[in-house]
Amino acid sequence: MMNRWRVMKRLLPLAAGMILLLSACGREDLSTLNPQGPVAQKQFDLMTLSISIMALVVVVVFAICIYVLIRFRRRKGDKTVPKQVEGNHTLEIIWTVVPIILLLILGVPTINTVFGLSKDYSKDPKALQVTVTSHQYWWEFEYPEYGIKTGQELVVPTGKKIQFKLASADVTHAFWIPSIGGKIDTNAGTGTTNKLYLEFPKEGVFRGKCAELCGPSHSLMDFKAKAVSQASFDRWVAAMKAPAVMPEDSKIKEAFENKCLTCHAVGENNAGSSAPNLTGIGSRQTIAGILYNDEKSTEENIKEWVTDTQKVKPGNMMPSAKDLDLTQEELDGIAKYLADYKLDY
Ligand code: CUA
Repeated sequence: MMNRWRVMKRLLPLAAGMILLLSACGREDLSTLNPQGPVAQKQFDLMTLSISIMALVVVVVFAICIYVLIRFRRRKGDKTVPKQVEGNHTLEIIWTVVPIILLLILGVPTINTVFGLSKDYSKDPKALQVTVTSHQYWWEFEYPEYGIKTGQELVVPTGKKIQFKLASADVTHAFWIPSIGGKIDTNAGTGTTNKLYLEFPKEGVFRGKCAELCGPSHSLMDFKAKAVSQASFDRWVAAMKAPAVMPEDSKIKEAFENKCLTCHAVGENNAGSSAPNLTGIGSRQTIAGILYNDEKSTEENIKEWVTDTQKVKPGNMMPSAKDLDLTQEELDGIAKYLADYKLDY
C-alpha cells in the first residue's frame, strides 16, 4: 500500500505536466479535440470511433492473453504436451470474421466522411468562394466574387459553406484551422489548386496554422479566421471596397507610397501586390500574424515588426526599416497611420 502511494506521488507531477501540455494554454484553441464546426466535428467523430475500436481490441486481446498466461502456465512436474489446436475451424472462423466486422465498422463511416468532406461547393451560389495563397510566411485571402484581397485575417460569415481554393506562391505550406477543420496542402509550382470547404456555425476568432514544414518561420505562420454575422460580413466587404484612407501628413504619405506600397496595397488598389494587403490593418488582432495587439499596442507592434522583421520572423521577405531607409519620423508616422486604419464592421 505504502509502495503504491509512493509511485502515485511520483507520477502526479508528470500527470499534471501532461494535462498542462495537452490542454490549450491561452489564446484561441488549437485543439482538434474541441470541435467548433461540423467539419471538425465529423473528423473528431472518426477519431473517437477508430480510437474506441483500437482500445476495445487492445483490452480484449490483453485480457485473453493474461488469462491464458495464468490459467495454462506450466505447472511444476508437468511434462505433458498441451492439446494442439492447429486446423481448428471454429477458432479460424472467429479470428477471421471478428476483424472483418471491425474493419467494416471502421471503414464504412471513414469512407463516407472522407468523401463527404471533399465535396466541392465552388459552383454553389449559396457558398462563399475564397482563394487562399500561402507565402513564406503569411496568408493571402482573396474573395473573387467581391474583388477584394486581405492578408492574415480571413473574415467569413457564419452559417454558410466557405469553399476554399488553395495554392502556394513559393514552397508547399498547409492550411489548417484545428478547431474548424482541415488540413490541406497548398502546393507549390505545380499550378494545381486544392479544394476544401469549411463551415463556421459560431461567431468568433479561430486560430489557423501552417501545417507543413516550410522554412525557419514555419511555426510562426499563424493566421486568424474571424467568423461574423452575414450583416457584419457585408459591412466588412463594403469597408474593404471603399477608397483607401491615406496618411494625412504629406511627408508620411510620400514615404508610405514609395517605401510600402511598392509591395503592399491599401483600398481598391490591390492588384498584383506581393505582400499582405494592409486595408484596415488596425482592426486586426495581430501584426505579422503573431504579435498580439492586446499585449502591446498595434502601433508598438508595427514598429517592432518593421524595425527588425528578421528578428520577428526569420527568413521572411519583408525588408526592415534600415533596408527601406525609413527615418524614425517616417516609421513613427506610418505606424500611427496604420494602427489608426480601422474598418467598421
Ligand atoms: Cu508555411 Cu509551414
